[in-house]
Amino acid sequence: MSKSHYQAPRGTRDILPSEAGTWRWVLNSFADLAKRFGYGQVISPMFEDAGVFLRLGENTEVVSKEMFTFQDKDPKTPQDLALRPELTASICRAFAQHRPITPWKVWYEGPQFRYEKPQAGRFRQFVQVGAEIIGENDPAADVEIISLAWRFYETIGLKHISLLLNSLGNVETRELYNQELLSYLSKNAKGLSVESRDTLAKNPLRVLDSKRKEDLQIITGAPTIQEFLTDDDKEHFESVCDGLKLLGIPFTVSPRLVRGLDYYTRTTFEFIADKLETAQNAVGGGGRYDGLVEELGGPPTQGIGFALGVDRILLACEAEKLELKNELPLDAFVVDLTGGSHASQITDELRANGLGADRCFGSRSIKAQMKVADRSGALYAIIVGDDELEKNEVTLRDLRGDGSQEHVPRSDLVKALTASIKERYPQ
Ligand code: HAM
Repeated sequence: MSKSHYQAPRGTRDILPSEAGTWRWVLNSFADLAKRFGYGQVISPMFEDAGVFLRLGENTEVVSKEMFTFQDKDPKTPQDLALRPELTASICRAFAQHRPITPWKVWYEGPQFRYEKPQAGRFRQFVQVGAEIIGENDPAADVEIISLAWRFYETIGLKHISLLLNSLGNVETRELYNQELLSYLSKNAKGLSVESRDTLAKNPLRVLDSKRKEDLQIITGAPTIQEFLTDDDKEHFESVCDGLKLLGIPFTVSPRLVRGLDYYTRTTFEFIADKLETAQNAVGGGGRYDGLVEELGGPPTQGIGFALGVDRILLACEAEKLELKNELPLDAFVVDLTGGSHASQITDELRANGLGADRCFGSRSIKAQMKVADRSGALYAIIVGDDELEKNEVTLRDLRGDGSQEHVPRSDLVKALTASIKERYPQ
């Protein structure tokens, strides 16, 4: 294949500048909010010892089918490595390794990798933002984590998000329930889809997640985990529900909500974008994982967290027809008709004063430069021609509003531009 035919690998894509400003804005909004909630950022490696991710459950699809694994090249340290399919296991590995003071409240952002069948909203490389609290058992921690995600959706303006909530109980409860479910589903296996019969053999809980018509009736009749919860688990769950009510966060208890990863205990939740297609409408999810740190070599430590899929959040914004902000709109475009050195100086001065500024390269006609200025999305054009030079001023033209223009002394440019933006384009 000739080089010009290279394409981004299947399930991956390029986010080009026209979209990247919105991505940056969404990511920055999450970072700001997490900081306001008292969380610190963790930047961990994009690949880990594959063993770290086996803790997600050897029978989960994420581990059995979707991991990008490779070998360390050093023959002296033969090690299976894997690109991270999610970040919770990495965060718990980091906790076990560094033993920070608890509760450890952290947030993260970045690409994850899963070898999935690509389709709308399902990629092989996708971006998550997320947060975890390690070392805290108080149900108030569950409430805070859920509220951070909820407030984030609010911050970016999404209105049609539903929160589904469930409790999976402790490890023993889950095991008991798994047995009961296996027995029920095995009795009814004939009525299940071929795919669900296959899942049943590996991971009975995952059958509950099937959306196939033939499975639904059987799933509806299945026992629910609620019947198996201990008094402690019930009390924890009720406190979480009460805490969410107190903050005015609406939720639906969903007794058959199961998650795609095996480490969950007690509180589990998912955020659904009501305007997206069912197959890819989960825009975030999370829960407690009270045994994970220990499995990764740390002391017995509780944990709770979530991850939100940014690719899907942006699809949900599109479906809700939201006008998203761009991170840094251009304030001014300098049109220099005198050769270009004034454009260099003016853009440099504006940028140094915190304004967004751009210019054309090469000497082009005023018509050509104004076309580029217009396309750039800048609020103002700053025009420098021979007349302006003679009078030691510039022309400031409003590109987004009424097209009006004024002459401004060259030395007052930064002040005049800042005042105009404040007056005409307040944030
Ligand atoms: P997860 O449910 O596997 O949980 O993923 C969280 C979110 O990532 C999903 O709700 C979805 O929005 C997005 N996502 C997952 N796979 C894809 C994909 N192939 N393409 C696009 N978006 C995708 C976790 O990852 C857990 N680590 C969450 C967690 C944190 N639990 C406790 N703490």
